[in-house]
Amino acid sequence: MDRYAVFGNPIGHSKSPFIHTLFARQTQQQMSYEAMLAPLDGFPQVLAQFFADGGKGCNVTVPFKEQAYGLVQQLSPRAKLAGAINTIRRTDDGLLLGDNTDGAGLVQDLLLHIPSLAGLRILLLGAGGAARGVIGPLLEQQPANLTIANRTFSKAEQLAEHFAPLGAVRAATFEALTGPFDLILNSTSASLAGEIPPIPAALIHEDIAVYDMMYGPGETPFNQWARGLGARACIDGLGMLVCQAAESFMLWRGIRPGTKQVIAELRRNLG
Ligand code: ATR
Repeated sequence: MDRYAVFGNPIGHSKSPFIHTLFARQTQQQMSYEAMLAPLDGFPQVLAQFFADGGKGCNVTVPFKEQAYGLVQQLSPRAKLAGAINTIRRTDDGLLLGDNTDGAGLVQDLLLHIPSLAGLRILLLGAGGAARGVIGPLLEQQPANLTIANRTFSKAEQLAEHFAPLGAVRAATFEALTGPFDLILNSTSASLAGEIPPIPAALIHEDIAVYDMMYGPGETPFNQWARGLGARACIDGLGMLVCQAAESFMLWRGIRPGTKQVIAELRRNLG
């Protein structure tokens, strides 16, 4: 049976085995998918062992996405842009191909909630690895502009400079933000500490959609905050998780699984 896995540290709470098992059942693929804990100082070794043992492909999650980028022989264009990978496929000639499906997953999930991103004024909060992974695919959707705001301004500036050739991107501080925006994406890890990026409440209006790339059993702190201020739609990152997995599955198996039912089933399991 074809073997797949996800590597991370920690990895115990990964939803990926659940998601890929549902995809495999839905598309009638004979494959296994397991969660593998990699030691913080030994990821290259366990990855090499997995493929030496016949592994067909894997996902890579926190904190190994940047390191994995340097361990493959081929990179997709979107992986090059992101500077990190979350998916590896072993090609027929035995080479490792790295891809990054996070941004495509975000865009696909956004398009389940919003008809189009074309012409939107988008605000992206955060300038870490999660932000970097999604900017290229967001710009491909031809928004009117994309503003990157971050606690550490210099990191937002660096990202804006990096992606400037692809579209209208600019950097801002949280405090100096002035709208209007049509869509706010929260890629910061502030929610992990129960915090919210300190952006002006005046940015939230009744026509805005907010998307928190985090998720949990209840509504995320950021979405609670925006809903309290009257935001039209408050979406969490569970759909992005399933949609990025579907893109990885497609890369490995050549079949695109349906995501809506899997998102619903995962949501029921979180509760
Ligand atoms: P990830 O891969 O999840 O993006 P990361 O690369 O460590 O993780 O980036 C975390 C992001 O969340 C950064 O943009 C960080 O801001 P700084 O660059 O200023 O560190 C942001 N972040 C983390 N905690 C935050 C908080 N409490 N308020 C606002 N931003 C926060």
